[in-house]
Amino acid sequence: MSSRAHLDHPKLGVLVSGSGTNLQALLDADLGAPIALVISNKKGAFALERAQKHGVKTCVLGHKDFESREHYDAAIVAALEAEGVTHVVLAGFMRIVTSVLLDAFPRRVLNIHPSLLPAFPGIDAQKQAFEARTLIAGCSVHLVDSGLDSGPILAQAAVPVCPGDDLDALRARILVEEHALLPWVVRLVITRGLVETPEGPALRSALPLPSRSLALWSVRTAEA
Ligand code: GAR
Repeated sequence: MSSRAHLDHPKLGVLVSGSGTNLQALLDADLGAPIALVISNKKGAFALERAQKHGVKTCVLGHKDFESREHYDAAIVAALEAEGVTHVVLAGFMRIVTSVLLDAFPRRVLNIHPSLLPAFPGIDAQKQAFEARTLIAGCSVHLVDSGLDSGPILAQAAVPVCPGDDLDALRARILVEEHALLPWVVRLVITRGLVETPEGPALRSALPLPSRSLALWSVRTAEA
């Protein structure tokens, strides 16, 4: 990122790997910044179609075409910077990112994960929760670090695991919250920025939380 002045004109880059329902939620929301580029590591990802239908520029960068994670991330950074991207959202991007990406967008890479982190990081978090027979599941939006779904948590939405649920039912219930929580957090990060607190980064002051029938939302906030 060349200068902080750049941040006066925020632009989002979204990284995807799959069907892109979270991307769709972002495309449909008022985020306070345009989505300038969607990058997929998978050629056939339906997320690409969603972006194109919305008139958003897309790009496929296959991770297998690069000799290391760092080389791959350098290509991603180049593509994002060419579009003036200031903030990056991982929306179902199934890759661990390196310091090459994180250093280019410090404290400006967000991820949505379908569990109440730090529980159940990694692949198929909903299945992990279901098989562990938890009674509450959910999703988290966090800042990305170089670990696996391990950066500072900004907001979480909890949902019950209901009697009679199968895995698909649980997945769907969590996904409803993902689609609400991710755009909500992204908008706050874009329009208000983050505050550093002794406990880590927090969203700047509280807005009224959306009231939702089944879910409980909790958000880390601090006054500036
Ligand atoms: C979402 O459930 C997202 O939280 C998850 O992948 C799914 C992508 O769905 N991400 C992770 O598991 C990241 N560790 P989508 O392509 O329909 O948005």
